[in-house]
Amino acid sequence: MKITIIGTGYVGLVTGACLAELGNDVFCLDVDEKKIAILNNGGIPIHEPGLAEIVARNRAVGRLQFSTDIAASVAHGQIQFIAVGTPPDEDGSADLQYVVAAARNIGKYMTDFKVIVDKSTVPVGTADKVSAAITAELAVRKLATETTFSVVSNPEFLKEGAAVEDFMRPDRIVIGCNDDTAGENARALMKQLYTPFNRNHERTYWMDVRSAEFTKYAANAMLATRISFMNELANLADKVGADIEAVRHGIGSDPRIGHSFLYAGCGYGGSCFPKDVQALERTARAYGQDLLILRAVEQVNDRQKHVLGNKIVERFGEDLSGKHFALWGLAFKPNTDDMREASSRVLLGELLGRGATVAVHDPVAMAEARRVLELDFANQPEALQRLRFCENQMEALEGAEALAIVTEWKNYRSPDFEQVRKHLKAPVIFDGRNLYEPTVMSDIGFEYYGIGRSVLTRG
Ligand code: NAD
Ligand code: UDX
Repeated sequence: MKITIIGTGYVGLVTGACLAELGNDVFCLDVDEKKIAILNNGGIPIHEPGLAEIVARNRAVGRLQFSTDIAASVAHGQIQFIAVGTPPDEDGSADLQYVVAAARNIGKYMTDFKVIVDKSTVPVGTADKVSAAITAELAVRKLATETTFSVVSNPEFLKEGAAVEDFMRPDRIVIGCNDDTAGENARALMKQLYTPFNRNHERTYWMDVRSAEFTKYAANAMLATRISFMNELANLADKVGADIEAVRHGIGSDPRIGHSFLYAGCGYGGSCFPKDVQALERTARAYGQDLLILRAVEQVNDRQKHVLGNKIVERFGEDLSGKHFALWGLAFKPNTDDMREASSRVLLGELLGRGATVAVHDPVAMAEARRVLELDFANQPEALQRLRFCENQMEALEGAEALAIVTEWKNYRSPDFEQVRKHLKAPVIFDGRNLYEPTVMSDIGFEYYGIGRSVLTRG
């Protein structure tokens, strides 16, 4: 099938590459000329395991192309996926300007029946806005009555760092279609496109458009709620003298609760949870409903991003000037170079803001971190000078009062603790992802601070 993907970011690039891998003829459009140039020169603008191979293979056989040519992109695909960003607006609601711009472009150039698929995470009712934008452009061209299209909602559930795997082996495919004639045609084309994913058992959940749009927010809000809930419990566990890891096992074994997404830590980041929780809460507000739970989820997470900073201040005092710290892990989670809403940015704000010097390491996010942190600290060039990027994780420890860990990369899981001790000024670790066993750390002479595990920390 001929497919166009509008927006070649994390979701668009993975979607385009994976659909090409399944034999489709895919055209990826982006307005970012640099991104398209990188892709056309054989590069990949993001770090995502397994993606480079798929892109190279399908580019080589001509099933995957990248371009900034809008007219050509509209002409190419009978199915047009909109996968542009939906960042938070000033008030936290989803900013739909990129989605509407993409829709307008389709309306400007389309000449035959198109299925327009909202792949971006968009609030309930957005399909109607996309439809209206296309109709308005067709009306300008006096084609509003003869050129038909249908807007479908097909939200994406992939996780960064496992995006290719998640896309190729989805646990569900959610598709919302209208029940008019154009909607029925759209449904038939979507069914054909997704047939390879449903071979062994049916994974597609067909529903109306609004329910599909809502499902995406409901899923992310539920997952974020679990994390904030566990973080609240972990903070209480620290106070009452319980171990959150034992509690996690104890409750996760109940199949009604399950084990995943119960890890306490230094807050959730990324391009989805923070903005989607906010956006759903703002949608509710627009309809006169106060989503109390989601407001709390957001507040708890904002507070949780300070948990490591608070523990460090408690241990070393408010004024950190002249003190030097090491930080392992900058990306918002392992296996990605994505720095969006990463907890490391909040911790660095606190440490540098209090006068400390910090040496940081991340296995893949260093270049992106440099770019993002230069922007974060654009108004504090002096603070930025106290930040040092280290290519080697042990080198980052040299002379530090303590090590703080923010991202659970595999290479931080079992370091040579003798080396760690040798490099640090004193054996102190603030672990924002509960990577180590407090009793073991204590036995080998480390002063160890986890999240919700203080009962086991003897120092
Ligand atoms: P991204 O910022 O990585 O990519 C968006 C791309 O769209 C950018 O390259 C941008 O230049 C391009 N773009 C903007 N306007 C355009 C236009 N008019 N025409 C063509 N290209 C245009 O964003 P992302 O992380 O891929 O997220 C995209 C959407 O998918 C968001 O709604 C997000 O919430 C959702 N989503 C993201 C993830 C994730 O893990 N990143 C997972 C599921 C859903
Ligand atoms: C999320 C959703 O999982 C995915 O389905 C959706 O399509 C996009 O948003 P992503 O943001 O890529 O994916 O990463 P995810 O693995 O969900 O982690 C998000 C954040 O939550 C990370 O900062 C991670 O460290 C944190 N997290 C995750 C926890 O703090 N505890 C957990 O138990 C799980």
